[in-house]
Amino acid sequence: MAMHTNIFTFIAIALFIAACDSHPDRSLLAQQAKQYSPQDPHLKQIYQSSCKNCHTLKDTGAPLTGDTSTWHDLLNQYGKDLLLQNIINGKGGMPPFGLCMECQEQDFVALIDFMAQPMGVAE
Ligand code: HEC
Repeated sequence: MAMHTNIFTFIAIALFIAACDSHPDRSLLAQQAKQYSPQDPHLKQIYQSSCKNCHTLKDTGAPLTGDTSTWHDLLNQYGKDLLLQNIINGKGGMPPFGLCMECQEQDFVALIDFMAQPMGVAE
């Protein structure tokens, strides 16, 4: 009995260490993402009515707000211009314009910056 307990404890610890080694847990990142909001009132309004509904949820597959390592990779891989094009055209689970039809290009660029490196913590 004691032997079994030890084996299970060992497996649990091994799994825990394996999980720590991989990319940070998406559910933790999603919890963190929900705390951020742009300081600029105009961007905040856009973000909360659109981007936030996907970019703070674990299961959407969207790069999460404040997941700096993922955004860093995206910016390195595609560059800001291509990310902007992908918002405008839509990509994968993201509809064209990220569902913000009235948004200007400069709004999208500012929102990329914000999600990659959020400064404003609100609510
Ligand atoms: C309906 C859900 C949804 C909404 C709303 C949404 N997104 Fe996305 N977004 C996604 C998903 C899903 C992806 C991942 C797409 C993929 O890689 O297949 C994504 C990816 C992105 C990317 C990375 C594109 C790339 O080339 O990999 C950027 C930048 C982005 N979104 C910005 C925004 C902005 C800015 C807004 C708000 C104006 C927004 N999104 C609104 C779901 C959404």
